[in-house]
Amino acid sequence: MAQERWVAVDQYISNLFNTLDPNLEATLASGAAAGLPAINVSPVQGRFLMFLAKSHGARRILEIGTLGGYSTIWLARALPEDGRLITLEIDPTRAEIARRNIVQAGLDDKIDIIVGPARDSLRQFADEGGDPFDLIFIDADKMGYVEYLEWSLALARAGTLIIADNVVRKGAVIDELSDDPDVIGAQRFNQKLAAEPRVVATIIQTVGSKGHDGFALAVVKEGR
Ligand code: SAH
Ligand code: DHB
Ligand code: MG
Repeated sequence: MAQERWVAVDQYISNLFNTLDPNLEATLASGAAAGLPAINVSPVQGRFLMFLAKSHGARRILEIGTLGGYSTIWLARALPEDGRLITLEIDPTRAEIARRNIVQAGLDDKIDIIVGPARDSLRQFADEGGDPFDLIFIDADKMGYVEYLEWSLALARAGTLIIADNVVRKGAVIDELSDDPDVIGAQRFNQKLAAEPRVVATIIQTVGSKGHDGFALAVVKEGR
């Protein structure tokens, strides 16, 4: 009963803010047609990511975990004219599907997809010493999250917003004896984030069309 209600309210919010535009719907349809798992953020969550990027004035965004480019497109829509988004994807087939969706959404001049294990790309960015990112969205393999947090801090500045998806996992994150690697990855990440002196962070639970899950939100402190 509660769940039906959450889903109905999610639909209500989605309808209110017209989150189902043609490019985003086509992105989901292309993923479904190619047999990609439907593990993209929901439409309302996508809008939340866009909202965060906009409210933060993000000009340089890093995404870890592209899939078909759904969250990528939401985030990139918040960028100013000269803004850039880099997204990391290990699977070349997924990266190619995402590339097509991004072109179709008219955002290919703002987005670079880098194919390969995220940790290699992150190490390379750190070695190159480029400009820091304003916003980082972590959404790839959950066992990698602790490492991605370390790299994110290395690629951040004071004020950078770090967001991590799927850190509640239907509430399984409170099961201390869980043997699910995705749950264990989220538990280790949450612990690490909570103990990290360089950020102010929290976790917000979400319910809706993707069930019960949550986002971790962290902002990098001044003078870290
Ligand atoms: N952000 C997307 C969903 C990403 S799903 C959205 O909401 O629309 C997670 C993605 O991370 C998958 O496509 C998976 O192939 C990718 N991934 C898994 N392990 C990875 C790794 N080590 N490096 C880079 N990408 C990885
Ligand atoms: C899974 C991964 C995701 O990024 C997500 O949003 C939902 C589920 C998964 O691997 O199960
Ligand atoms: Mg996710």
